[in-house]
Amino acid sequence: MNILMIAGEVAPYAKTGGLGEVMAALPKAVHRLGHDVRVYMPLYGAIDRQKLAFVPIGKTLQLNVGGERTPINFSASILAQEVPIYFLESEKYFPPDKATIYDPKSGNLPFYAFNLSVFRLLETLDWVPDIIHVHDWHAGLIPNIIKNLPVNSPFAGIATVETIHNSAYQSLANQWKIPDEERDTGKGLPPTELAKVNYINFLKRGIANADIVTTVSEQYAKDLLIPATSHGLYDVLKPRARTFFGIRNGVDYRQWNPMFDEHLPVNYDIEILHRKYDNKRALQHRLKLPIDDQIPILGMNSRITEQKGFSLVFEIFERLMKKGVQLVVVGDSTSEPYKRFLTEKMKQYPGQVAYRAYSEELGSLVYAGSDIFMMPSLFEPMGVGQLYSLRYGTIPVVRRTGGLADTISDYNQHNRTGNGFVFDEYTGDALAEALDRALELWDQKALWWNLMVRAMALSYSWEIPAKKYVRIYRAAIKEHCGAAWAIPKKW
Ligand code: GLC
Repeated sequence: MNILMIAGEVAPYAKTGGLGEVMAALPKAVHRLGHDVRVYMPLYGAIDRQKLAFVPIGKTLQLNVGGERTPINFSASILAQEVPIYFLESEKYFPPDKATIYDPKSGNLPFYAFNLSVFRLLETLDWVPDIIHVHDWHAGLIPNIIKNLPVNSPFAGIATVETIHNSAYQSLANQWKIPDEERDTGKGLPPTELAKVNYINFLKRGIANADIVTTVSEQYAKDLLIPATSHGLYDVLKPRARTFFGIRNGVDYRQWNPMFDEHLPVNYDIEILHRKYDNKRALQHRLKLPIDDQIPILGMNSRITEQKGFSLVFEIFERLMKKGVQLVVVGDSTSEPYKRFLTEKMKQYPGQVAYRAYSEELGSLVYAGSDIFMMPSLFEPMGVGQLYSLRYGTIPVVRRTGGLADTISDYNQHNRTGNGFVFDEYTGDALAEALDRALELWDQKALWWNLMVRAMALSYSWEIPAKKYVRIYRAAIKEHCGAAWAIPKKW
């Protein structure tokens, strides 16, 4: 099959979170199953044009955006040495001197233009894919536009798949500030007047119109079909129940592997697990914490947002400090109160708390050097941190939600099953209780070692999910032309 995947971020070009990582791995995994996979994204100002090579393709075109004509260009590069990736270049919508990827101040317009540009790209390439697979809200208008094309359009036969990575983000303009009665219902075609572009709910339109909709874990697919946890998408998802599936993300173990991770001062694996503690010491040294194997390190490495459960950690902060643990938080944040809280605590407990902005190197060191990895998420479509930490022998403590529920099972001290510590209620007490159980086991060194070894041996590769996507693509092609197909809900 010929498959075009479209996303707002693809690592290493641009990444704010898990979406960027999935986009670095999934196209490659599907390509390896024998399909022609290509990727499309905007060429943000933030992308390093020196470090990554780009070749111009085609000539400058005029894109008509709500009656305004703007020059655009396309360029190409190779993702992970095997998948072609194309970029939209536009001085107007993605200015080369702009450092942020997603600027809420710019509203929806840049991505509205990005959606319209897709068809110009296909013309330039003289290529009509069988499938366009859009990820999150960024290209949600594509299924909507294709569904409404006249039958004689060269693009009318393209089947579409929409994957929801996070229901909280539905467009760049803030959807929650729009009064209820003016919110986008997702019906019909998106408006063409520029004044209305900020009212468009891209994700909703993708969901309402794609031939098949998927999300990134089975449990999150269930969570989204409950009004309270659907971020307002319940009404548009419910009628899709027959054509809505959960497929968990995988991990690229060539990259996320303590034996090969080049960011680690000392590589290790199950057979030489004692070397994990060299990384623990390196982490303590690097963050100016007391260097001591006998102090447990609780690590967190994620976007510092409400979603990731930081309010629970803050709620039990003093209790945690009394336990004598070291707490390491690595991540970027746009929340001033969260940043202030962590900065103040770091000053108050310099020997126990370290908080730093995200870097790839520190990220890896947190997975390798921590004893326990905390992910008390309010909601979690899939989550990758819990899977990386398993491979690095760092035991996850998670809330039972979304992909965390699908991948982490609670440790059972009687039959020694489970790969982490799980709690249900979204409360500080529930988190504290799970942490207590983890710390208690951590004190029993032989049992903890045993748990680490079991965690490291687990595998969540891309192989199975990639095959599932291929089945979804075949089904989408049938769905698009009204033919029958069947995929069992348990597969
Ligand atoms: C989003 C979700 C995360 C998921 C990732 C990739 O970042 O918050 O749970 O793993 O997308 O699908």
